[in-house]
Amino acid sequence: MKDENANGMQTNDAVENVDVSSATESYAEQNGNTTKKKRGSFTGKIGFVLAAAGSAVGLGNIWRFPYLAAKYGGGIFLLTYIVLAVTFGFVLMIAEIALGRKTGSSAINAFSKLNKKWAFLGVLCAIIPIIILPYYSVIGGWVGKYFTTYITGQGMAAANEGYFNSFISSPWQPLVFFAVFVTIAFLVVLFGVEKGVEKVSKILMPALVLLTIGVTIYTLTMPGTAEGIKYYLLPDFKKFSVKTVLAALGQLFYSMSLAMGIMITYGSYMKKQDKIESSVHQIEVFDTGIAILSGLMIIPAAYTFSGGNPETLGQGPGLMFVALPQVFATFGKVGGGILGALFFALVLFAALTSAISLMETVVSIVIDKFHLSRKKSSLIVYAGTLLLGIPSALGFGVLGKLSIKGMTILDMFDFLSNSVLMPIAALLTCIFIGYIIGCRQITEEIELNGRFKFKKFFNVMIKYICPICIVAILVTSILSAFGVFNI
Ligand code: PFF
Repeated sequence: MKDENANGMQTNDAVENVDVSSATESYAEQNGNTTKKKRGSFTGKIGFVLAAAGSAVGLGNIWRFPYLAAKYGGGIFLLTYIVLAVTFGFVLMIAEIALGRKTGSSAINAFSKLNKKWAFLGVLCAIIPIIILPYYSVIGGWVGKYFTTYITGQGMAAANEGYFNSFISSPWQPLVFFAVFVTIAFLVVLFGVEKGVEKVSKILMPALVLLTIGVTIYTLTMPGTAEGIKYYLLPDFKKFSVKTVLAALGQLFYSMSLAMGIMITYGSYMKKQDKIESSVHQIEVFDTGIAILSGLMIIPAAYTFSGGNPETLGQGPGLMFVALPQVFATFGKVGGGILGALFFALVLFAALTSAISLMETVVSIVIDKFHLSRKKSSLIVYAGTLLLGIPSALGFGVLGKLSIKGMTILDMFDFLSNSVLMPIAALLTCIFIGYIIGCRQITEEIELNGRFKFKKFFNVMIKYICPICIVAILVTSILSAFGVFNI
């Protein structure tokens, strides 16, 4: 089915909005093993911004950002994140999109097109989604479990202390929900119906944003949240450390789908007449706005319910799953039940669309590298995701003993991709642009249609500040991991 889509693109120049699925087809296209096809493009700037924001907004904003903010000191994490978003985030996103549009290629080929010796960076970028997809799907399974709980009228039980822990430590439950989640994503990818999913998401994603705003307003008016709001919004500089920066940087890459080649692929589908710089501003504002809002919805409530200690509430990754049911419970059995079912249904949908785009990316890499059919590649990715996800799914129960320094298996995959591989990929991307091909190649691409307002800033950041800071952050965190010093 997918191939039909691709062929459709060949004959139809005025391709409609290219969604994630067709964008990632380029992996196969670029390899030259398929007949030459014209690349599709987004219908315009709005189409591009919506599609890129669609990839960016997901569990990273709603689940991951609030728990990291709670863990790393609230306001100080928020401030660090915002500073990084307008500096590192802006520069890297603009660089990746311009790189994609310039080369007309997805990550796996974009680097090698400009310099053969740098093909390895495309491969590194390709490995990252392979690591993320399985554990992303485990969390997707958790959302599925909560949705099922609410839809079957057991919402009040979900608000009980211990509900989350007994679920994730069960020997089979996280596995079953994970497997169902991956299977749904797999079926969508296999039958090539992502376009339909994308269409529905244009209604459901704004619905999620509206519901989040509503719940946020409600939680902020609950008695006793003032302290929690202060904790989240006012930075406490005593809590600042290199760990805060590393966590915020990893979160930035994850949330904005950076340093894993996704934005390069999106860029390759952007029209030459559309403005890159202003599009990046819009995607950033959208993605960061939803993350900040989710924090505001969850952290003050968590702060109140945990008696002023959000760091320990829900043991990190469980924050959303522990705090929100308690908020919903205050609406009573019926009201809270409906609200919970609606909320988790929308989050489940957002998680599925992101998982589908991640899976689509991985399938395209397999097609490209091993020259297999789409069906075979999808099956391999499905089986591989199921296998790789098992340790993460069971890491809070049966395999709980396998933790290192208090990190569960899921935390380890998360740490490996977000705090190790993505910073390395981002560092190499900066070196590639700043010193191998030269900033001009990128800035000229951005200047194709108008002035690049932040050109000087971009050059200085890409050549000096980003690489130096990333090296400093990485070295410090590695040294501290080996116990050389404590940060
Ligand atoms: N940026 C997504 C999030 O914040 O949930 C995660 C993600 C989705 C990364 C899709 C990459 C991707 F292709």
